[in-house]
Amino acid sequence: MNSGAEAVETAIKIARKYGYEKRGIPENEAKIVVAKDNFHGRTTTIVSFSNDEDARKNFGPYTPWI
Ligand SMILES: Cc1ncc(COP(=O)(O)O)c(C=O)c1O
Repeated sequence: MNSGAEAVETAIKIARKYGYEKRGIPENEAKIVVAKDNFHGRTTTIVSFSNDEDARKNFGPYTPWI
């Protein structure tokens, strides 16, 4: 990976693919559960699951199912 954010994005993709292909989660219904007060980077999806307003403000709409 080139950055922490890219590693986190890739982890999300792997978790979703595993859920769909190995755990039978219906298509497009996977949910990602995160801890409050996290910081994992500044991509749109990553700020979608943060409560850090400095990172989030004016970057919505945010990624759903998190
Ligand atoms: C815990 C954690 N995850 C992810 C990141 C994002 O890393 P990057 O800035 O390389 O995308 C950071 C950056 O400080 C971090 O502290």
